[in-house]
Amino acid sequence: MDFNLTEEHEMIRQAARDFAVNELLPGVIERDREQKFPYDQVKKMAGLGFLGMMVSPQYGGAGLDSISYVLAMEEISKIDASAAVVISVNNSLVCAGLEKFASEEQKIKYLTPLAKGEVLGAFALSEPEAGSDATSQKTTAIDKGDYYELNGVKNWITNGGNAKYYIVIAQTNPEKGHKGINAFIVEREWEGFEIGPKEDKLGIRGSDTHSLLFTNVKVPKENRIGEDGFGFNFAMAVLNGGRIGIASQALGIAAGAYELALKYAQERKAFGKEIIKHQAIAFKLADMHVKIMAARMLCYKAAAEKDEGEDISVSGAMAKLYASDTAMEVTVDAVQIHGGNGYVKEYHVERMMRDAKITQIYEGTSEIQRIVISRGISN
Ligand code: CAA
Repeated sequence: MDFNLTEEHEMIRQAARDFAVNELLPGVIERDREQKFPYDQVKKMAGLGFLGMMVSPQYGGAGLDSISYVLAMEEISKIDASAAVVISVNNSLVCAGLEKFASEEQKIKYLTPLAKGEVLGAFALSEPEAGSDATSQKTTAIDKGDYYELNGVKNWITNGGNAKYYIVIAQTNPEKGHKGINAFIVEREWEGFEIGPKEDKLGIRGSDTHSLLFTNVKVPKENRIGEDGFGFNFAMAVLNGGRIGIASQALGIAAGAYELALKYAQERKAFGKEIIKHQAIAFKLADMHVKIMAARMLCYKAAAEKDEGEDISVSGAMAKLYASDTAMEVTVDAVQIHGGNGYVKEYHVERMMRDAKITQIYEGTSEIQRIVISRGISN
């Protein structure tokens, strides 16, 4: 596998880095404190093609490969992990799933505006009683002839308050277990669809997370994705790719915290010399650097395999598991290296530590990743 980046990759990385520094850094502390969604920045990211990076230009996307997506996600997450998850969900959970599995009509109507970033999408699988145990869907979509009647509650939905189109997973035939589950495209304005209050979160506070409530929502038959009963396999396939996005987000959080800690250690003096000259700090930074590089390689490997059309269930899970643990460890160390300053908002690393935690939870907890990996290696 060749991990040499092309000139185009370097340009994308630079564009994402410049955008993050110039447009996301100003105000990132305030957005975190006040839970403000980065509306203007998301609009600008749409203009740069970051909302539908891997979608074919035929459907309004940028037509880039998955490595480009990893590069952009890392750079954006170094500065603002909240903005990064907004684009990650739109790219990998919504657009990628629609491009691969939706009908031509669905692609024209829904994928195209989503990939252009004219509207945002959300992916609604989790429920109050079905998070990791995703087959236990309580939301029902009952076949009523020419439409499905959707009832139930979804929880912790990223982009929940700002999306226009939602991919909703629901149970149609409970007696068939996961084979009775379907995926639907649901529009925000439809009668009976209500958006719950915004969650007050530990981290990624600039992103909006809501519950969704469906009461007798009429979903036209043509809004089902794929064949009857395809919904669970659809969700699993989409999440395999989504995990590369979250792995890259975690990688970016770790790399951002490391860069700040390295700079701080080179400038801050204690006991007559820069703290990086104390072995306790130098070794910590060395470990951080190695873990980040290993996480980056796992992300590139999974992305390259995705572009080659290989099964990425294990490689995506490995990248997410390792990168999210790295994000947690590195951000804790970055706070430690900053000492008292690390505990203060203006130094950024405390926010990164809070943001890192969710990467071990959403799009499959670390425990779920271990299930996927252990099943993969024992087959
Ligand atoms: N890739 C492809 N297919 C998979 C798969 C994978 N990783 N894992 C399971 N499947 C398929 C199986 O092959 C099987 O299909 P067939 O019947 O056609 O053969 C089907 O799914 C059922 O598989 P299992 O019997 O193994 O199902 P299970 O009940 O044991 O659960 C699980 C499998 C891997 C634990 C799954 O439930 C899972 O991934 N849970 C985690 C869900 C998750 O990631 N939730 C995150 C919510 S989304 C989110 O966070 C969004 C956000 O807003 C950021």
